[in-house]
Amino acid sequence: MNKRLIAPSILSADFSELGLEIERVTAAGGHLIHVDVMDGNFVPNLTLGMPIVKSIKPKAKLPLDVHLMIEKPERYIEEFIKAGSDYLTLHVESTTEMEVCLLKIRNQKIKSTPTHPGITLRPGTDIEKIKPYLHLVDLVLVMSVEPGFGGQSFRSDQLEKVRTLVQWRNEGLGKFQIEIDGGVNAETAPLCWDAGCDILVAGSAVFSGVKTSENYSLNIKKLLV
Ligand code: DX5
Ligand code: ZN
Repeated sequence: MNKRLIAPSILSADFSELGLEIERVTAAGGHLIHVDVMDGNFVPNLTLGMPIVKSIKPKAKLPLDVHLMIEKPERYIEEFIKAGSDYLTLHVESTTEMEVCLLKIRNQKIKSTPTHPGITLRPGTDIEKIKPYLHLVDLVLVMSVEPGFGGQSFRSDQLEKVRTLVQWRNEGLGKFQIEIDGGVNAETAPLCWDAGCDILVAGSAVFSGVKTSENYSLNIKKLLV
């Protein structure tokens, strides 16, 4: 069995002490820092952009897993790479230039460390839509809520997509990790692992209770059993 990884989503962190929150989830045993970028257009919410990714990069010892929920991400790919993204995941619904975008991320010469291309889709989007791109990505993110907000309920119907991806990967369609995002908590995490996920994103389930690494560590451990 591959190692099970947890990506705390800073959307649910205390933004007034973001650097400390990142240090806490790092000490707590998180594996990736999930960063939700929203433009108020692709999704009905606004969050953060390149300057924040750039400023948290030196604080974060963990890879930055950047989830772009923006229209026409091709406008900002270079800047997100420059800001220090280690994974850069794009929505299939957000661009008509998906192949160009993924190749641009893969072949970037902007920084010396790699940026891993990722692809994702809304719950209502057919998994077949991402099939042509699987050989170009290192990560496939299955959205188990409608993108835009933390704290929503998990949509277990999306687990079928995870099972399909596992099958496609076994058939040799790509060498990607499978990540799931939205409504992941102690009750839903086992369903995600059973379906074949490699990485679980969790916002509210990790950043709940007192703001200490000890508490966040307990929250993360509940997702790993
Ligand atoms: C939603 C975001 C998620 C969000 C998950 O659009 O992509 O990453 O932070 O939050 P929870 O884990 O609270 O559902
Ligand atoms: Zn996300």
